[in-house]
Amino acid sequence: MKPRVYVTRIIPEDILDLLRSECEVKIWPEENIPVPREVLKKEITDVKGVFCLLTENFDADLISSAKELKIISNMAVGYNNIDVSAATNRGIMVTNTPGVLTETTADLTFALLMMTARRMGEAEQYLRRGEWRTWSPLLLAGQDIHNSTLGIIGLGRIGESLVKRAKGFDMNVMYYSRTRREEKERDLGIQYRELNELLKESDFVCVMTPYSEETKNLIDLPELKLMKRKAILINTARGGIVNEMALYEALKNGLILAAGLDVFEHEPVSINNPLLSLPNVVVLPHIGSASVNTRRRMALTAVNNLIQGLSGKLPDNLVNKEALK
Ligand code: DGY
Repeated sequence: MKPRVYVTRIIPEDILDLLRSECEVKIWPEENIPVPREVLKKEITDVKGVFCLLTENFDADLISSAKELKIISNMAVGYNNIDVSAATNRGIMVTNTPGVLTETTADLTFALLMMTARRMGEAEQYLRRGEWRTWSPLLLAGQDIHNSTLGIIGLGRIGESLVKRAKGFDMNVMYYSRTRREEKERDLGIQYRELNELLKESDFVCVMTPYSEETKNLIDLPELKLMKRKAILINTARGGIVNEMALYEALKNGLILAAGLDVFEHEPVSINNPLLSLPNVVVLPHIGSASVNTRRRMALTAVNNLIQGLSGKLPDNLVNKEALK
């Protein structure tokens, strides 16, 4: 008998067919509405595997309701939506989709940096509102990207790919991460800085670190105060790493110049979030990895992880090996 699995969102049909060839699949049918928690709780009571997205909060309570569960396959590289230690305690494997989204997310991060620095969102709206009367020397003038200093917080795969883009713009790149990586410094031509030094010296600060208890509110008011008044903050990692209220204060009071945000503490972000009232903030709806090819690769990777885990193989992207003990 094929193992039963629950899929929390519609994925490309051919990839679903691959899963169907190995498993009995039930799928939440709505494309733009996440599965309600109570429905999810009920659906997973007797399944062996779950294919989920970062919109599903697999906390200890939800995990404990899935009595037969062997594997949670998350279609994302970040897995802060899953209580991994609760899963591990119950011997449930957790997998993610690293690697396949690296370049696409680095593209979007650099695009957001450019969009924020050169005020492209404001400029587009200005034109569409019919306000463009003439060319004017300081009209919508922004900040230069070339020859500026980029500070990257978190030198994982995406951070490294961002360096390559920045080097193409002759940027001086520095990074902060928990572990110093001297070989990478030589290979990529970048310099290490302690976090406070990086904040003081950078024209652009990009947050690229995973979310955890340790990185929650890593960028708060004291950190924002260290930044240059002309500095721009970009976050394409997770919303909770930057304290949103502190960021609002900093942007409103001119402590920093602007911010580009693809992620928010609560998603979807409320349109009443005060950050959305500021002209010097560019906002996107968490689309870092959203290219058609990459989203297919992510879905395929998550399906492969699920099939491997349910057929007794070690999934390629297992994040909690301890669950197997
Ligand atoms: C991830 O994978 O963690 C991103 O936030 C969505 O691609």
